[in-house]
Amino acid sequence: MTKRPSYQLLPDLSDPEYASLKADIAAHGVQVPIELDETGAVLDGHNRLRARDELLAEGMKVPDYPRVVRRFKSREEKVGHVLALNLSRRHLSRTQRAELVAHLRGEKWSHRRIAAVLGVDEITVRRDLRGATNVAPSTVEGRDGRNYPATRAEATPSIVVGSSRDEARALKALDTLGDDAPGRLLQLGRAESKAREASLARYRAREVPKVSKGRRWRIEHCDFRDLNIADHSVDAIICDPPYTDDAIPIFSDLSEFAARVLKPGRLLAAYCGKLRQPEEMARLAEHLEYVWIGATVLRGRHTKVHVHKINGWHRPWLLYSAGRYKPRAWIKDTLIASEGAGEKGLDDHPWQQAEGPIRELVRMLTLPGELVLDPFVGSGTTAAATLAEGRRFVGCDIDPGAVAMTLERLEAGKRGEAR
Ligand SMILES: C[S@@+](CC[C@H](N)C(=O)[O-])C[C@H]1O[C@@H](n2cnc3c(N)ncnc32)[C@H](O)[C@@H]1O
Repeated sequence: MTKRPSYQLLPDLSDPEYASLKADIAAHGVQVPIELDETGAVLDGHNRLRARDELLAEGMKVPDYPRVVRRFKSREEKVGHVLALNLSRRHLSRTQRAELVAHLRGEKWSHRRIAAVLGVDEITVRRDLRGATNVAPSTVEGRDGRNYPATRAEATPSIVVGSSRDEARALKALDTLGDDAPGRLLQLGRAESKAREASLARYRAREVPKVSKGRRWRIEHCDFRDLNIADHSVDAIICDPPYTDDAIPIFSDLSEFAARVLKPGRLLAAYCGKLRQPEEMARLAEHLEYVWIGATVLRGRHTKVHVHKINGWHRPWLLYSAGRYKPRAWIKDTLIASEGAGEKGLDDHPWQQAEGPIRELVRMLTLPGELVLDPFVGSGTTAAATLAEGRRFVGCDIDPGAVAMTLERLEAGKRGEAR
């Protein structure tokens, strides 16, 4: 993944320096992250990579290495960053070091941190500062004699990762975020969810019709409470409502809506949150009858609930019937998403569910040709699953971005049979 050649702006290490670096990597692996730009080109760490490659070629086992992937606005900023990085580590004359110390103090670094970075003691840092006249130089000089802006690495959008797979994900996230990337260090998962939000925001900029139709489907851009649908006309509702605190009242309205539009004895299957599940269940019971709780096991993906220190590996779904339940087929109450199926692409909806388990629900709750409704389509997972299983679909979403995503998914026939 890592691209070379790269930004080697300072003189090569001397032979003894390189030999000592290689011995250190042989003993401890690459400890200092390799710095990459937004194209995957190496900004810093050529010697570490070269040493690692040589060790691998010599038959040694050297573990994968940490990387920082950064996105820069301009080449100038990038070069400034590379110079600043290198000058802080080696070949520093006294004057160069004093300038760098002053610069780092200008960036509000503590004496201790500067001393640690430069490998000197704090007394030296203080002495350099007393003699400093040029606090916080805004440029650094390259070997070509030109001046480049000295960037503050923390102010560039950056992601720290530990493997080539994550490096590819980090590059993709920074690419998708583009200028929306916040100028700071980000965790990979956070950067990816921000990339999905940015992608959804781009879908929101599209115009969507109030009603869109295919041969076996209809999508409306509206609040589900305003959806145009006949009473007692729906064979199953399969949905994934919002689970935030302010969305709790939706479960009461969903209960009333489902009781009105479902055929008597038919089922609503709703994914629900776990933190507020008792209240969601109480509200669903206002107009429907409780039938069962099922779960989808999310393999390869889980949710950390920090408030309770719980690692969640399943998502519950609730079954409620309109009036007395009339069972028509056996229902398996634990569905297992295939490995990685819940992993989202960066163009996917932030809350997109895995399609496989929804297809199973469609098969268990309805017969071919019957009508499935999802009042919260999001990216259209239930729509795609329903059509792929040969049923008819109607759905809506209040968010134009979600409707645009769903229409794209259906019209492109991306997943399953769309028309
Ligand atoms: C959890 S997401 C659904 C994700 C979907 N299952 C998927 O796989 O992409 C919930 C969706 O409900 C929509 N929504 C929230 N309130 C709504 C309302 N009152 N009427 C219709 N849609 C609503 C949100 O815009 C969001 O797209």
